[in-house]
Amino acid sequence: MQTASKVVSTLEALKEKITSKTARVGIVGLGYVGLPLATEFAKAGFTVTGIDVQDSKVDGLNRGESHVQDVPSSEVAQLVSEKRFRATTDFSVVRELDTINICVPTPLRKTKDPDMSFIVSAVEEIAKHFHPGLLVILESTTYPGTTDELLLPTFEKLGYKAGGDFFLCFSPERVDPGNPTYQTHNTPKVVGGITRACTEMGKLFFSQALEKVVPVSNTRVAEMVKLLENTFRMINIGLANEMALMCDGMGINVWEVIDAAATKPFGFMPFYPGPGLGGHCIPIDPFYLSWKTKQSGIEARFIDLAGYINGRMPHFVVEKIQDALNNHGKSLMGSRIHIAGVAYKRNIDDLRESPALDIILLLKKRGAELSYSDPYVPHLKLNGVSLSAKPLQESAAGADCVVIVTDHSDFDYHALLDSARLIVDTRNAMKGFQSEKIVRL
Ligand SMILES: NC(=O)c1ccc[n+]([C@@H]2O[C@H](COP(=O)([O-])OP(=O)(O)OC[C@H]3O[C@@H](n4cnc5c(N)ncnc54)[C@H](O)[C@@H]3O)[C@@H](O)[C@H]2O)c1
Repeated sequence: MQTASKVVSTLEALKEKITSKTARVGIVGLGYVGLPLATEFAKAGFTVTGIDVQDSKVDGLNRGESHVQDVPSSEVAQLVSEKRFRATTDFSVVRELDTINICVPTPLRKTKDPDMSFIVSAVEEIAKHFHPGLLVILESTTYPGTTDELLLPTFEKLGYKAGGDFFLCFSPERVDPGNPTYQTHNTPKVVGGITRACTEMGKLFFSQALEKVVPVSNTRVAEMVKLLENTFRMINIGLANEMALMCDGMGINVWEVIDAAATKPFGFMPFYPGPGLGGHCIPIDPFYLSWKTKQSGIEARFIDLAGYINGRMPHFVVEKIQDALNNHGKSLMGSRIHIAGVAYKRNIDDLRESPALDIILLLKKRGAELSYSDPYVPHLKLNGVSLSAKPLQESAAGADCVVIVTDHSDFDYHALLDSARLIVDTRNAMKGFQSEKIVRL
C-alpha cells in the first residue's frame, strides 16, 4: 500500500506517460479484438507488446504476418520493423508495461455457463508480474460483476489498492469484422472504472488512439452496455426469424415486408431473418446475462425465447431444402447440395458458430452429398466432414440444389442463376431476381 503522496505521484506519473505516449502498452490476446487494438495504439505512437499463448500467432506477427483479416500484414510488418510492435508468449514483460488490455476469449460451456478460464489464466499470469502504476482494462465480453468480483480481488490480494496504486477498468469491445466504415479507431469506446480515478485513466488512455470515448460510472455499467447491445440484436433477429416462419406459413415474402416497414422514418429499425445466428458474440453473449440474472432469481425470458427461435433456423432451412427438392421430384437422400458461403457473415473468414456448420451436419445426416464455395474459407473440417472449397458456378451446375447461406459480395449471382437448377436463398442475396428456380426463406 502506498502513502497519499505516493498515490498522487503514481497517478500523475501514469497520466504523464500516457499523454506523452511513452507508456508501454500491453495487449493480452491477439485475436480479432486484440490485434486491431494493438496496431491502433502502435500507429498512435505507443510502443506496444502483444502477449498471446499461441506460439504460431506470436511467431507469425513477429515476422510481419497478420492472421486477422482487418489488419493487413504490411501494417504489422511496418510496425514490427519500426520496433513499435512485437509479440511474445512470455508474461514476464508485464513488469515493463504501464497498461494492459485483456482481450482473451470468453466462450460458453456446453451447459451455456460462462467459461471464465481464459480470463482467469491471463489474470493469474499478470498477477505474477504485477507492479504499482499499472492500468488494467478488461475487454473480453462477460457478465456484469466480472471485473470487481474476479479481477479486483486478485490484484488487491497482492496488497495494492485500485484507484491509488493501480487502475482497473472494463471497456466493452465493439469491433465488427469486415465493416468498411467502422473500425477500432472510429467506433466510440465505452469505459467504466472501479473508482473515478480508474475511469479517468481509462478514458485518458483510449482517447490517445480512438476518436471518441464514452465514460460510464463503473465497471458493471460498462459490462452491461455490451450485453444490452448484443441482446438487443439477438432478440430482434429472433423476431425477424419468427416473422419469416409466420410469413412462410402464409405465403408472404418476409423480405418485402421488412423493406416496406423500413420506409417508416421513425420508430422502426430493420432486422433480417437468416439461416441462424453466427459469430463469437450474438449467439453467446446474451447467455452470460441470463446466467448471471438467474442467480438473482430473474429469468431472462426474451433471451431464452429468441435463443430457441434462432436455434430452430438451421432446421427450418433444411426443411425448406427438402420441400424444394420434393417439388422437383427429388428427396434429400443422395441429392447433391452445394452450399454457397460458410463463414458466419458476409465478406469475412470467421467460421465460429456459423449456421452453415449446423446446416451441413443436418444435411449430411439426411444423406445429402455436400460441396461448398467460399472465397474466404478454403477448407472445412467438422465432425467427420472434410471438404475443400470449389468454384461456385461449376459446382452449381452439377448440384441438385444450391443453398445460399452466406451472401458474400464476391459471388456472381447472375451467373449462379444461369448455372443452378434450384436455389434456396436464406439471405435474400437474389433480391430483384425473378425466377422459378429461387426459393426464398
Ligand atoms: N470477434 C469479435 O467480433 C468480437 C467483438 C466484440 C467482442 N468480442 C469479445 O472479445 C473477446 C476476444 O474475442 P476475439 O474474437 O478477439 O477472440 P480470438 O479467439 O480471435 O482471440 C483471442 C486470443 O487470445 C489468446 N489467448 C487465449 N488465452 C490466452 C491467455 N490466457 N493469455 C494470452 N492470450 C490468450 C488466443 O490464443 C487468441 O489469439 C471475447 O470475449 C469476445 O467475446 C469479440
